[in-house]
Amino acid sequence: MVENLRERIETLKREKNAVILAHYYTNPEVQAVADFLGDSLALSVKAQSVDADVILFAGVNFMAETAKVLCPDKRVLIPCPEAGCSLAESCNAAEFAAFKAQYPDHKVVSYVNTTVGVKALTDVCCTSSNALEVVKSFPEDQPLIFAPDRNLGSYIKKLTGRTNMVLWDGACLVHEAFSLEGLQALKKSHPEAKVVVHPECKEALVQEADFAGSTAAILEYCGSSEADTFIVVTEAGILAEMEKRFPEKKFIPAPTVDPACRCNECKDMKLVTLENIITTLETLSPEVVIDEETRKAAERSILNMIAIQ
Ligand code: 13P
Ligand code: SF4
Repeated sequence: MVENLRERIETLKREKNAVILAHYYTNPEVQAVADFLGDSLALSVKAQSVDADVILFAGVNFMAETAKVLCPDKRVLIPCPEAGCSLAESCNAAEFAAFKAQYPDHKVVSYVNTTVGVKALTDVCCTSSNALEVVKSFPEDQPLIFAPDRNLGSYIKKLTGRTNMVLWDGACLVHEAFSLEGLQALKKSHPEAKVVVHPECKEALVQEADFAGSTAAILEYCGSSEADTFIVVTEAGILAEMEKRFPEKKFIPAPTVDPACRCNECKDMKLVTLENIITTLETLSPEVVIDEETRKAAERSILNMIAIQ
């Protein structure tokens, strides 16, 4: 059955001259049909160089919007336009404009997990892969606004020692759901394990990490580390890629505050399925549409980021 769905997708990709870009947090069977699998930075960069008429974005809507901003002449499809992101939704563009107006001499650095409206108000975007480089690219005396993730923002503030950076008070509900006590107990029962943490988690959890970084950086660390057991403090979808790349190693998902809730899964990422990929490719819809003025303004902030990374 899954095999038939996969074959249908391969046929449609050829017929429509389409490629599928997917994030590590999507369902494993969706990751398996992707032409390119990556973290949010790699996916943005890849979107620019894709040689196809159609990009189907298997991920949440801010990621598909980013691809459309960078590739206005391509048809960018999103199987589930309702796949949002709690972090992007924690920063409304109108409220952010009012916040920004309070700090007229500040430059704005925004995480890519934002709507195009917020990107249009941003000087330089960043991802968890390059947030440090982006912040360091500004002179030390340049005051900054960092949005929307308070956890990534305070982590970068700590790393840089920057005191002139104000933070928007947003967060990802998935990454905030991990339990500090649960992680500490797991570390005790697996003293041999290395702890890998996404910096969208609360600071106390990041402090427990042997390594903190983006999804791609975490994968790289697990590959290069001599350890063979890892406690993984990020969205559970990444476990599929970890187990595929490093079958000899063991990956233990960290517990959340309510273990019964499966809240270490990003429900929006899981909305993409093989079935809705097929319908989307067959009908070439839903398509991402952005008005040109907003697109141009958002593009500047993303290109500024890509120039730095
Ligand atoms: P990455 O930048 O590590 O891909 O993370 C994106 C994201 O949405 C994390 O929750
Ligand atoms: Fe957004 Fe969090 Fe899902 Fe990433 S894991 S897409 S930040 S809600």
